[in-house]
Amino acid sequence: MSKVDLYCVMGNPVEHSRSPWIHARFAELTGQTLRYERRQVQPDGFAQAIADFRTDLAGHARGCNITVPFKFEAAALARHLSERARLAGAANTLRFEDDGIHGDNTDGIGLVNDITLHAGAALAGRDLLLIGAGGAAAGVLGPLIEAGIRRVVVANRTPDKAAALVQRHAALASAHQTVLEACRLDDVAGAFDVVVNATAASLAGADVPVAASVLAPGTLAIDMMYGPAAAGFLDWARAHGATARDGLGMLVEQAAEAFRIWRGVRPPAAQVLAELRAVIG
Ligand code: ATR
Repeated sequence: MSKVDLYCVMGNPVEHSRSPWIHARFAELTGQTLRYERRQVQPDGFAQAIADFRTDLAGHARGCNITVPFKFEAAALARHLSERARLAGAANTLRFEDDGIHGDNTDGIGLVNDITLHAGAALAGRDLLLIGAGGAAAGVLGPLIEAGIRRVVVANRTPDKAAALVQRHAALASAHQTVLEACRLDDVAGAFDVVVNATAASLAGADVPVAASVLAPGTLAIDMMYGPAAAGFLDWARAHGATARDGLGMLVEQAAEAFRIWRGVRPPAAQVLAELRAVIG
């Protein structure tokens, strides 16, 4: 009997991940046969978890999604890395091939697609503030530049990390004529067309770490998280006249790109996003 193609999401914590639901819907809607599971991985057990998954007799392991805190390790483990994953230094999508593990990072294109396809906002020629310089920010900066944005300011509590991230993307920014700047949270000046919160500040119970003067009427303010973790930022954005958006669209779009990489078919992300919003309520 032929075995079913097997995928999973690995992370810690992973029990609340929506990825199994999203990929099951993608599979149904595109007529693909596959299984997609959750795998909770111990902090020092990532490489072993990948090895175990690949030899799992329950099916043919074809690939997996990687979430916090293993995206950096995933990039290091991959034999082949896409350019966007190399720039990010992190991988969220692995594909198992005969010549080894291929690593990619679909977070950035997920954010870009959510903004341009679902939020209905243009990125070309716009000014964007990226708050944070950790793994989440690193995953999206390259694709934002490639989307033709005019200027990106990366603001971070630890300014050296913002400077390093900007430095790593300097050649790409120059190739796309994007102005790229790093600064401290307190030094951000002026208002932006788009503000993206890529910090973990809300998880630490902290307030939004930049002044409300970054927002103008019509600014699109996006938190890369969703649910209660995003509520503080979204309330703050609305209170200052911005259009607030959570990270659910980015989540579905990064999954859609992973699905395309694995299956060669682009799933109907807009439909699945609408269904997921209805499920979450
Ligand atoms: P992730 O993979 O989610 O990005 P990370 O790599 O640990 O996680 O990065 C967390 C980001 O949130 C960083 O930009 C961090 O700022 P520092 O680089 O200065 O640590 C930011 N962050 C976390 N807590 C914060 C807070 N209370 N105020 C402002 N920024 C915060």
